[in-house]
Amino acid sequence: MAKKILPLSRVYGLLEPGPVLLVTTARKGHANVMAQSWHCMMEFEPPLVGCLISGRNHSFDALVATRECVLNIPTAKLLDRVVGVGTCSGRRVDKFAKFGLTPKPAAAVGAPLIDECYASLECRVVDTRLMNRYNFFVLEVVKAWIDAAVKEPRTLHHRGRGRFMVAGKTIRTRAKVK
Ligand SMILES: Cc1cc2nc3c(=O)[nH]c(=O)nc-3n(C[C@H](O)[C@H](O)[C@H](O)COP(=O)(O)O)c2cc1C
Repeated sequence: MAKKILPLSRVYGLLEPGPVLLVTTARKGHANVMAQSWHCMMEFEPPLVGCLISGRNHSFDALVATRECVLNIPTAKLLDRVVGVGTCSGRRVDKFAKFGLTPKPAAAVGAPLIDECYASLECRVVDTRLMNRYNFFVLEVVKAWIDAAVKEPRTLHHRGRGRFMVAGKTIRTRAKVK
């Protein structure tokens, strides 16, 4: 995908609706990816994102060790691959090879962008105070990429038990909202 730089001030609009993410990490030359839906915006700019990543996940260890990751945003056509990477562990599997996802070098962090995703947010961990208690990481987005050709991304929204809602049309309000 031909992504261009997205101004950091516009990152929140990508995440506010809470799409399912593909979180990439890389440790000692091994990249990994997991599905992630428990996240929230915490600040406009610099964009801060709170992410809950279970301590049972291989990605948790990589995030603690490297303090870097990329939040990649897939669309509905990647559904089966999203569920695939969300139901097996990078401890045993090279998920990029198994699920046909293409890692691309990031600009500011060691974890890769996923080429098949329409947007990718390079992040650093900036606060781990809630990590021990909730597995909650505060991430700062330091670089953001988007494929501007994707006008109305059909993002996935996890509703539990194998059900997903797909985002549809963008609608506008007459009121002034940032
Ligand atoms: C749709 C979906 C959403 C998920 N959301 C989260 C999440 O928010 N936090 C989390 O820790 N695991 C979440 N998971 C589970 C992880 O993706 C899963 O445990 C994965 O196998 C971890 O991979 P790893 O061991 O390679 O890190 C989700 C899985 C799916 C399918």
